[in-house]
Amino acid sequence: MSSSSSLPLIKTVALAGAGNLGAFFPEQLVGAGLETTVLTRAGSTKSFPAGVKVKEVDYSSPSSLESALAGIDAVVATLMALDAQAELIKAAAKAGVKLFVPSEFGNPSTELTDDDHPALAGKRTAHDQLNEAGLPALLVWNGPFPETTFNPYLGFDFANEKVSIYGSGRTPISWTTRLDVARFTAHHLASLASLPAVGDPSILRIEGTRASFLDVVDTFRALHPSRKVEVEHLPLEEGERAAKDVAGGFVPSLLAYLRVVWEKGQGKVDQDGRAQLSNGLWPEWNPKTVEEVLKEQTAEL
Ligand SMILES: NC(=O)c1ccc[n+]([C@@H]2O[C@H](COP(=O)([O-])OP(=O)(O)OC[C@H]3O[C@@H](n4cnc5c(N)ncnc54)[C@H](OP(=O)(O)O)[C@@H]3O)[C@@H](O)[C@H]2O)c1
Repeated sequence: MSSSSSLPLIKTVALAGAGNLGAFFPEQLVGAGLETTVLTRAGSTKSFPAGVKVKEVDYSSPSSLESALAGIDAVVATLMALDAQAELIKAAAKAGVKLFVPSEFGNPSTELTDDDHPALAGKRTAHDQLNEAGLPALLVWNGPFPETTFNPYLGFDFANEKVSIYGSGRTPISWTTRLDVARFTAHHLASLASLPAVGDPSILRIEGTRASFLDVVDTFRALHPSRKVEVEHLPLEEGERAAKDVAGGFVPSLLAYLRVVWEKGQGKVDQDGRAQLSNGLWPEWNPKTVEEVLKEQTAEL
């Protein structure tokens, strides 16, 4: 008979916000053997794989959140609405949740300051909210999602053979697909043996491919030797100005901010080698590469 210490620590998971990123999680959580509940707001018409429970919640109602989280070991938040996450953190603590995975899933967030884009302010305050609530936390850093980044809004217009980059484009960036983020996180939760201390979150630093903007262009060129891609380098200061112009448009300023911080090295999840990648925790992970993503996305060109 196995001892109780060999029982899984995390058996039940609630996923909050099955949207752009979160939609990739339910199948992976269930596949990893975790009892999975998706929290969704009233009126949602999303459908989920067999075996997934769905609970309707109102993020402005603490009692609605607390009752949805009864019996849940870990919460994974993939919300963009970070005010809703603040309520979820409080409710998770009250419901006795053991581990909270806040909505990070991008660049390292522990060094964010007031100078960073306001869209990210809620990620920074979440760290304090988790401490105040006394909740152990797991942060997942994966860099940009390649499949949602290679588009004209972020400077990659492969259909028209034009790429625009703030700065040199030579800075290495960590790229990881949403599916691989979900796979790694689910695997990690299912195999977790101990909880981090409150105020000292565990961090998963995962990277599907390391490539600079110019490496991405070279990969495209290798896949499509007959296509000529013109690369325009814009001054980094121009991007910095566009990033600060929140009043001129929240989303354009956020997109400019991201292009600038990736170029400045903030998209490297090992923080310039100051920390180790977590890929080795699951050697079988085998994430999709930037080349594979580009091949699929540009197959029709
Ligand atoms: N690394 C990258 O390249 C990258 C790119 C994009 C996003 N991200 C990160 O991934 C995380 C999730 O972002 P996302 O784009 O997946 O989020 P999203 O699709 O905008 O939202 C996720 C879900 O949140 C729920 N929700 C709860 N309250 C809401 C509200 N007030 N308004 C709108 N939706 C609400 C919705 O689900 P229901 O309707 O079912 O309640 C929605 O589908 C964020 O931390 C974001 O920064 C990273």
